[in-house]
Amino acid sequence: MTRDEYLALVDDLTEHDRRYYVEAAPTISDVEYDRLLVRLRRAEADHPDWVVPWSPTQRVAPTPASSFPKVVRDVPMLSLDNTYDEDELRAFHDRVQKGLDGEPVGYVVEPKIDGFGIELTYRGGALALGATRGDGRIGEDVTANLRTVHGVALRLREPLDLIVRGEVYITKADFAAINAARVDAGEEPFKNPRNTAAGSIKQLDAREVARRPMRTILYELVDGERWCRGHAEALAMMRRLGLPTSSHNTLAHDWDQLRAAVESWRDRRDDLPYEVDGLVIKVDAFAQRAALGTTSKFPRWAIAYKFPARQVTTRIRELEVNVGRTGAITPVAILEPVDVSGTTVSRVSLHNWDQVARLDLGDGDRVLIEKAGEIIPQVLGVTERAATARWTAPSRCPSCGSELAREEGKVVLACPNQLGCPAQRQAAIEFFAGRGQLNIDGLGEKLVAQLLQAGLVHDVADLFDLTPAQLVTLDRFGETSAKNLVAALAEARAKATFSRLLAALGIPHVGGVVARLIAARFGRPSAMLAAADELDSEAFVAALCELDGVGEVIAVAVDRFCRDPHARRVMARLIERGLDVEEPRVEAGDGPLVGKVLVVTGTLSRPRGDIQKEIEAAGGKVAGSVSKKTSYLVAGADVGKTKLDAAAKHGVAVISEDDLGALLRGEPLAPADSDG
Ligand code: IVH
Repeated sequence: MTRDEYLALVDDLTEHDRRYYVEAAPTISDVEYDRLLVRLRRAEADHPDWVVPWSPTQRVAPTPASSFPKVVRDVPMLSLDNTYDEDELRAFHDRVQKGLDGEPVGYVVEPKIDGFGIELTYRGGALALGATRGDGRIGEDVTANLRTVHGVALRLREPLDLIVRGEVYITKADFAAINAARVDAGEEPFKNPRNTAAGSIKQLDAREVARRPMRTILYELVDGERWCRGHAEALAMMRRLGLPTSSHNTLAHDWDQLRAAVESWRDRRDDLPYEVDGLVIKVDAFAQRAALGTTSKFPRWAIAYKFPARQVTTRIRELEVNVGRTGAITPVAILEPVDVSGTTVSRVSLHNWDQVARLDLGDGDRVLIEKAGEIIPQVLGVTERAATARWTAPSRCPSCGSELAREEGKVVLACPNQLGCPAQRQAAIEFFAGRGQLNIDGLGEKLVAQLLQAGLVHDVADLFDLTPAQLVTLDRFGETSAKNLVAALAEARAKATFSRLLAALGIPHVGGVVARLIAARFGRPSAMLAAADELDSEAFVAALCELDGVGEVIAVAVDRFCRDPHARRVMARLIERGLDVEEPRVEAGDGPLVGKVLVVTGTLSRPRGDIQKEIEAAGGKVAGSVSKKTSYLVAGADVGKTKLDAAAKHGVAVISEDDLGALLRGEPLAPADSDG
C-alpha cells in the first residue's frame, strides 16, 4: 500500500462511519467494514509515521453525558481480534502454538453473543457492583439496572469475592414481541436486539429497564487462576455459584477438534434463541494464557471467529401499500428475491412513512437488507439510487380512496373509513373469526377474501347467514368443507359471550379485559346499545368511566362505536342472528387476592385471558387501566409508559409475572433473585 492509498482508505472509512453513525444508513455490511479497518490497522502498524489524527483508529471514545458514576477497573475489559475463515483461524492457532513452543493446547469454543458487555463484582457473595464495559478501562456503574436483568444473581451460592464478565442480551422472540407492540402502538420499532439491550442498560430510570426482558450469559471469571487451572473449570465453577453460562460451550483439544467445533456451528447458528455473530475461541489453561499475554488491545490467547454476513443487497421492485384492520397504512418494499443466510426475502415492511422518507426510497433502488435469525428483515439503506421518483406517503387509501389522516402525535397514517373500506373489512372479518376472538374454525384469510369477492359476505353479521348451498359455489369448496364451516359458525355462536363478541368487533382500545368490564356492566349487547340511546354522549362516556379500569379514551371509543350508523346496523343484525349473548356471571373466587384490583399489561408468557381467570379465581378483580384503586400492576415485557406513569402517580406496586405467581400461591412478595 502506498501513502496515498492509505489516505484514501482513511477517507473511505470516515465516510462509512458518517453513514453509519450520522445518517444511520450504512452502505456496506459490518463484515466489509471490519475488513477495511483491518487493512487500515495493518498499514498503520507497518508505517506508524503515516498515521493521521483523523484516522478512525485514533478516535477517542467520547464520554457520554450521563449521570452514572464512573468505574475504573484494574483489569481492563479487552476486546477480541476477528477471523473470518478457516485460514485466518489456522493462523491464530499457529501463533498460539508458536507462543507456547509447540506445547499441546486446548481451547474452549463459545457462542459470541451479540449483546452488551458487562462486569459484575461480588463481595462476600453479594452483588456489589454492575458496570458497563465502557472503553474497557472506565465503565459506568449501572448496578441498579443490572439488578433487574434475569440471570444476574444478586447473591452467589458461596460467600466469595470475585469478578465475572459477560453479555446482556434480549432473545429474538422477546425482541420480536417488543417490536410488534411498538408497531401496534404507532411507535418506531427498535433496530436490533443488541442496540435495544445497550440502550436499555443505559437508561437512567431502572424501572424503565425492568420492563425490558433482558437476560445475561457470563463467560469470564477475572483472575480465574485463584480458583481454577483453566477456563472450562472456571465456567463450571461459575455455574455452580449460580451464574448463568452458555450450555453451548465446548472443549477442543487440538486443531482438528477446533475445526470440527467451528464447522458444527454452520447450521446451528439460527437454532439459538438469541443472536450470535460468531464464536469466541479461548485457550483453556490459565498458565498458557499468562504465557501468551496480551497486546494493548487484544488477548493473544483468544480470538473471535465471525459468521458470514447476513446483510445483502438487492433491488426494489415496487412499493406495496398495505391497509391493516385498524386502517393503518403501512409501506412494504417488494424486492427481487434474495437469499439471506438461508431464507428467501422478497418483501420487507418499512413500518411507517417517516422511515420511507428517512431512507429516501424509490422503485429500482439497490438496497442493503439485513435478516438475522427470526428477526424480521429490514432495509438498512440505499446503496445505489435509481433515477426514479422517490416514494412519498399516499394521500388516499389504496383500497377505498378515502383521504388519509395521521393521528395526532403518532407516526401511523390511517384510513378513517373504518367500516366501508374493503381492505379494512377483510382484515376486520379475519380478526373477528380469529383465534382469541370468535374462533371460527377454517375461516382464514383466503376464504374471507373469497366470500367478500363473491358478495356472500359484506360484514361480520353476514357470516351467520351462510348456507352450505352458497358455499359450494366458491372455487374449490366441497360439500364437506361447506358443512364444516356452517357447523363452525354455529359453534362459535353457541360459545360466544358478550365480552368476546365486543372484543372481536375491533373497537379501538377494547381488548378482552375492557370488554369484560363493559359486558359485566350491561349484561348483553342490546342493553349496552339501549343505554347509549338513553343517555347523550357525555353521560354515556361518564357512565362508562365509572367502571374501574375504563378511562376516558376507551369510553369515547365505545361511545363512538355505539353511535356509528354502520356499526349499529351490524350490531342489530348480529343481535337478530342470535348474538344478543349474555355475559356469564363470574362468581368472585375466594382466595389470596380477595379485595385486590390488578391490572395486567405487556407481553406475558401466557394468554392474558388465562391469567385473568386465575386472578378472578383467587378472588381478585382485573381492571383495564391503572387508578388509585389498583393494588398491583402486573407488568410483562414492554409495558406501556402510560401504565407505568399512572402506577408511579398513584403509588401502585409494579410486579412481574413471577411475582403474580407468588401472590396467587398466597406467598409474600420477595425481592427477585435468579440463577438464570
Ligand atoms: S471474551 C478477552 N466471550 O464480544 C476476552 N466475549 O469482541 C474478551 N462477547 O467485548 C471477551 N460473547 O462483549 C467473550 N463468549 C464470549 C463473548 C464475548 C460475546 C463480546 C464481548 C466482547 C466482544 C469482543
